[in-house]
Amino acid sequence: MLLNQVYKGCLVFSRCQTRKSFAEASWLRTLSTGTERSNRHEFNEKAQFGSSRLFMLAGLGAAAAAGFYYYTKYNLPKVLALENKVKEGTASEREPGSYVDGLPVYSSVDVAKHRDESTGVWVSYKSGVYDITHFIKSHPGGNKILLGAGVSVEPFWNLYAIHKQPKTLALLEEYRIGNLTKGEEDDSMMNMGDPYANDPQRHPVLTIRTKKPFNAETPTSLLVDNFITPTEFFYVRHHFPVPDVDLSSGDYSLEIISDNEKKGLSLNLDQLKTTYASHSVTASLQCSGNRRSEMNRTKPTKGLEWAQGAMGNAVWKGVRLRDVLLDLGIKESDENEHWHVEFEGLDIDPTSAPYAVSIPLSKAMDPRGDVILAYEMNGETLTRDHGFPLRVVVPGTTGARWVKWLTRIEVARNESQSHWQQNDYKSFNPSSDWDKVDFSTAPAIQEMPVTSVVCDPQDGETVELKDGKLKLKGYAWSGGGRGVVRVDISLDSGKTWHVAELLDPVKLSRQWAWTRWQANLPVTAKETEVWVRAVDSSYNTQPEGMEHIWNMRGVLAVGYHKIKVSLKAD
Ligand code: MTE
Repeated sequence: MLLNQVYKGCLVFSRCQTRKSFAEASWLRTLSTGTERSNRHEFNEKAQFGSSRLFMLAGLGAAAAAGFYYYTKYNLPKVLALENKVKEGTASEREPGSYVDGLPVYSSVDVAKHRDESTGVWVSYKSGVYDITHFIKSHPGGNKILLGAGVSVEPFWNLYAIHKQPKTLALLEEYRIGNLTKGEEDDSMMNMGDPYANDPQRHPVLTIRTKKPFNAETPTSLLVDNFITPTEFFYVRHHFPVPDVDLSSGDYSLEIISDNEKKGLSLNLDQLKTTYASHSVTASLQCSGNRRSEMNRTKPTKGLEWAQGAMGNAVWKGVRLRDVLLDLGIKESDENEHWHVEFEGLDIDPTSAPYAVSIPLSKAMDPRGDVILAYEMNGETLTRDHGFPLRVVVPGTTGARWVKWLTRIEVARNESQSHWQQNDYKSFNPSSDWDKVDFSTAPAIQEMPVTSVVCDPQDGETVELKDGKLKLKGYAWSGGGRGVVRVDISLDSGKTWHVAELLDPVKLSRQWAWTRWQANLPVTAKETEVWVRAVDSSYNTQPEGMEHIWNMRGVLAVGYHKIKVSLKAD
């Protein structure tokens, strides 16, 4: 079977290519083995792999584009109906990927012949063969789905394990067209093992949203007990397995290059620490999707079901990015006013593309922007979950730009072309949806809008009043360093408002940390709905309802936070 596999591997370019990428990945450039390093040489190698990958993608993409039009026009309603069937639980109940008697049998070579619109896009899963052409346009991960065209989806799903849920498997089964030749099912697994096996241990208090990749939030009730969120309670947001960096191997370094490449820097962690002055910043980190679950009540969106705990506040220590870029010869000028700084992490997707995003150069160079390359969080060495050995801290900016496991920085004329910058972390008009969205029309989220949350009590709780008063506690924060100047509370759907007490000191600008607030309000009813909204130093405030800011990705869910509580008189 092995020889057979090798033979097929040579015949089928895309499969061969995928294997190469996975082999190259060796799961996250596992630095502890000392076999792979992100040095310039590797960058060149990567560029070569990247260009052939791009070539393949471009081909697939171009061919699929024509298909998109056809399928969007003629088949999308069918796709949506199938999705509804899955939601309603009326979709196929057979074991996903099991052998189905009576269906045609295809070999992996047959499957590999279907990678574009002219032939249809096929994939395999265990014993199943599927024609997913109809589904491509509504795939939340965008064109990335084409990487699996003509091959097994299993290696991809080992990484994007979020797919391995009954809903997705049932949806896949709706596209079933045949069985894979018996004996070929195991080949597709490529003996990858579990790429998440080396992930670190986490504190059980975290509310897990997905295990692989690990995504978990701080329970809302714990959030405002401390101004500084304890590291072990701090939310975690990963797209891939956690890289394992062994500094003692001497393999870790940070590469910094500028657009003109006249000068480049390569620094290990010690060099970084000793060359530049240290700087500490107290800043809140918030995921763009924080509070998505509230937006989902208007209409489901696609993304992790975050409550209000995909946010925390910490003290970050590191060196100023500005100092490093000055050393590189970067000076602010009219010419580079709109340039970007791209950050690349050590975590990579199945095609070896690293997690990468960028921020405006003007933010990086701003002496009051406080962008740092952090090696400490809350007085301790960064933990693996939060980016050991180095992460970017971009105060006032959405969490997606705070790249962890930082290994490369590039100053460039344009923003990052990565998936994460171009095709994710953007917001659209509430009437846009996956079938008619053009990601290039929206800018990447950078600074975040003002938000506020009631953390205590929780929605649905029964609260005992004290002296006839209801005690409320929560947090408020705004992006771009705009301090929160007021937190308003209403117990009568906005007819009258109370001003909450701000518990932490607030500056009008360069205010990166959240502000906790509390209120103690008289109430006589047996139940009440609490509304909270914050106002920042630019007098920006939150919209009342999530419905007017609804977007298919469920980001920037900053409507008033509304909770219902039952009250017990004291
Ligand atoms: N950096 C890398 N390399 N890989 C990632 O998956 N996730 C980003 C950002 N940095 C991510 C990353 C996102 S979306 C968020 S919200 C924050 O990290 C979360 O940081 P935390 O896990 O330390 O809370």
